[in-house]
Amino acid sequence: MNYLYAINFAPGFEELVVGLLKKAGVKIELNEEGFALVEFSKRVTSPELGFAKSIIEVFSQSDDIPGLNLSLPNSFVAPEGYRFSIRSFEGNRPSKLDGETRVEVIREVSLKTKLKYSAFEPDVDFIISKRKSGLCFFGMKLPVNKVKSEKGELHADVVSLLCELGNIKKGSKVLDAFAGHGGVSNTFLSNFEPISVVLVEKDSRLVNNLKPRFKSDKRARVAASDVVNYLKSTEGNFDLIVADPPWGEFEDYVGDLGKLYAEFLRVAKARVEPGGKIVMLSSKKEELEAAALASGMIVEARLNVLISGKKVLVLKLSTN
Ligand SMILES: C[S@@+](CC[C@H](N)C(=O)[O-])C[C@H]1O[C@@H](n2cnc3c(N)ncnc32)[C@H](O)[C@@H]1O
Repeated sequence: MNYLYAINFAPGFEELVVGLLKKAGVKIELNEEGFALVEFSKRVTSPELGFAKSIIEVFSQSDDIPGLNLSLPNSFVAPEGYRFSIRSFEGNRPSKLDGETRVEVIREVSLKTKLKYSAFEPDVDFIISKRKSGLCFFGMKLPVNKVKSEKGELHADVVSLLCELGNIKKGSKVLDAFAGHGGVSNTFLSNFEPISVVLVEKDSRLVNNLKPRFKSDKRARVAASDVVNYLKSTEGNFDLIVADPPWGEFEDYVGDLGKLYAEFLRVAKARVEPGGKIVMLSSKKEELEAAALASGMIVEARLNVLISGKKVLVLKLSTN
């Protein structure tokens, strides 16, 4: 028996996502940018699809909403929660569902499970979705990435994609070069089993939040420093450096972003293990491209992606 899931992920990472799932032997059908249907031979839990922004277990699909089979499959196991709701979407936007369909889903779910309907603070959402491609489906949303993040913090789904792009392996030595609120390191530690994580952040207010947050994990070390100075004054190399320098929310923190990016890459280049990678991203595409060129590093991948609605360039750099 196979299980079908509809996943949303950051647009622009399609090739990486297809490659990852194919390598794992999972059937994938890429329907639109940032959206795919994937088929597993067993029921999945959200960590297996850590790069997905949302995951919906699909029960039925059709060309139009009236054509959907709204019954739950016999294999359906009701989750722990006891309140459910129904949400409908057109593309990625919420849409209005006609009353008859809503009543039919409520009746079906209430009859076959012990769940109770509640539009407010439900534990699980049943979804009726019409995609841009015309595909309609009925399913149930799985809980993902419930960790509350700060404004400007990179979300776990995007960080997972950056780590996969940087060929992260178990036991890696990793550097979170511009740590901010610690979104990158949080995902390093929870999803990728690194041997050590160094977080470098220059803003003392943020450092004061990072220190207690990562104190209990022996693998993590927070350095209150300008990252360029830090790399110049310390020793040891890294298998993966993820650099999320100021841009967007954090743009005001420094004057000349192009200069910062270039200085950073010039020193970071010397601190990468053989075969190691630097994954760096910014919405300041020209500045990032110029810094990469000036560093003389090899651009192994260049991705134009969408993160929190912003157009961002992601570069994967290596020295060999
Ligand atoms: C885009 S934010 C990083 C957000 C982070 N990835 C997260 O998930 O929270 C960039 C961070 O770099 C810090 N920063 C700016 N210039 C720096 C420098 N020269 N050295 C170290 N950190 C710096 C800023 O204070 C800001 O917190």
